[in-house]
Amino acid sequence: LAVFAQEKHRPQLHFTPPSMWMNDPNGMFYADGTYHLYYQYHPESTVWGPMHWGHARSKDLMHWEHQPIALYPDSLGLIFSGSAVIDHQNTSGLGSKGIAPVVAIYTSHNMAWEKAGRIDRENQSIAYSLDGGQTFSKFAGNPVIKNPGIADFRDPNVTWFAPGKKWIMVLATQDRETFYSSPDLKNWTKESEFGAKLGAHGGVWECPDLFPMQVDGKTKWVLIVNLNPGAANGGSGAQYFVGDFDGHQFIPQDEETRWVDYGRDNYAGVTFHETGDKRIFMGWMSNWDYATVVPTATWRSANTLPRDLKLHNLNGKYVLASTPIAAVSNYITGTQTIKSNKVVKSASALQRLSGKLPVQDFSITLSNNKGEQVIIGYEAASNRYFVDRDAAGDHSFSAKFAGKAYAPRLAKTDTIDFTLITDVASAEFFADGGLSALTTIYFPSETLNNFKITTAKGLPFTLENLKPSM
Ligand code: FRU
Repeated sequence: LAVFAQEKHRPQLHFTPPSMWMNDPNGMFYADGTYHLYYQYHPESTVWGPMHWGHARSKDLMHWEHQPIALYPDSLGLIFSGSAVIDHQNTSGLGSKGIAPVVAIYTSHNMAWEKAGRIDRENQSIAYSLDGGQTFSKFAGNPVIKNPGIADFRDPNVTWFAPGKKWIMVLATQDRETFYSSPDLKNWTKESEFGAKLGAHGGVWECPDLFPMQVDGKTKWVLIVNLNPGAANGGSGAQYFVGDFDGHQFIPQDEETRWVDYGRDNYAGVTFHETGDKRIFMGWMSNWDYATVVPTATWRSANTLPRDLKLHNLNGKYVLASTPIAAVSNYITGTQTIKSNKVVKSASALQRLSGKLPVQDFSITLSNNKGEQVIIGYEAASNRYFVDRDAAGDHSFSAKFAGKAYAPRLAKTDTIDFTLITDVASAEFFADGGLSALTTIYFPSETLNNFKITTAKGLPFTLENLKPSM
């Protein structure tokens, strides 16, 4: 893995495929001390093509070990995004000799049918594993949900709904989510639809996730709905709704559109299954606006750092807060202090910068000696955080890449706390305990390792050097 460090723009804290093209994270789950990550993968090229599920495993969600490809295209089509569950009670009957099967639920996308103009090209299929998610067999009765005549009919996310003793699937169906239920993962019944008249609709709804969270002593349900294009700052992004789910219908708390992350580079994110009370989110750190043309040579795309999700009660409304997982701290190798308006040189691009300051304008400039820079900060006049990558290095590959992204400040407190994690080609900014998040990628010609915080008053900030996790 050390060889990666030699490759230009290759992240060292973030998951990347060994080579070739990656998009959405898929089917993540935790079992027996190991996190499994699958991902949309085209093993023959650095641009999107016939989709497989690549696979990696980790003990701490930071250091990943590449595994053989888990799912290959078949006669029903390419293997598009989906989820994986552990069928503990063997409701599917696909288990054997007391082994609970891992069941992957994904979309079979029939390319030949698409070329022929057939609208029913996306159908839902399942595959099962009896070795903990290492190797899968396709279910002989696929597809398990046939297309009813909707061109965008994909990305099933399945969870066990204990109160109703049934599986629930949320499926992206063009401009809405459709919920299905099943006793056995094979036979599915449509329950309801959500969202045709709510939320952002600048593009197609994709990659949903539905899960319960505890807050104020009650259970609330979070519905993540990825959208492309039409995100808060353009292109791809993840909106979410909080509400109630009774096994049949999702009822949102209100009609507002909220975003998991306002940055340009956090798409198709969903959460790990089987993590108990924790909810760990991971996204694809890119945007369909330019993902296929970013200037990396042997591979394309990285994932965001894994993030802990929490619900906060903000003036009577539940909102998501995301913070990088605690395991990041295990990679700290040194600490230094930054005083306001002083430039500090860091050992490498891999840093965690954190601090607190009164609510006032501030900016963090991350630069190199060539004058390339990324600026992240807060504008009191508009009450927004921003990230500006206009001068961050190469953006010749796409007219949609340069520019500034904004995130509203939701917190009402009179101090701002923030954490910024930087890698070779990305910055992830979290403010107010994660109530506002901004993720961005960039491609400087040299490492950005000068840090400067410009602000009127501020306590000293902490800059921690991180060692590569990959
Ligand atoms: C989202 C997406 C999914 C689809 C997959 C195909 O990025 O378009 O809707 O399943 O990518 O690779």
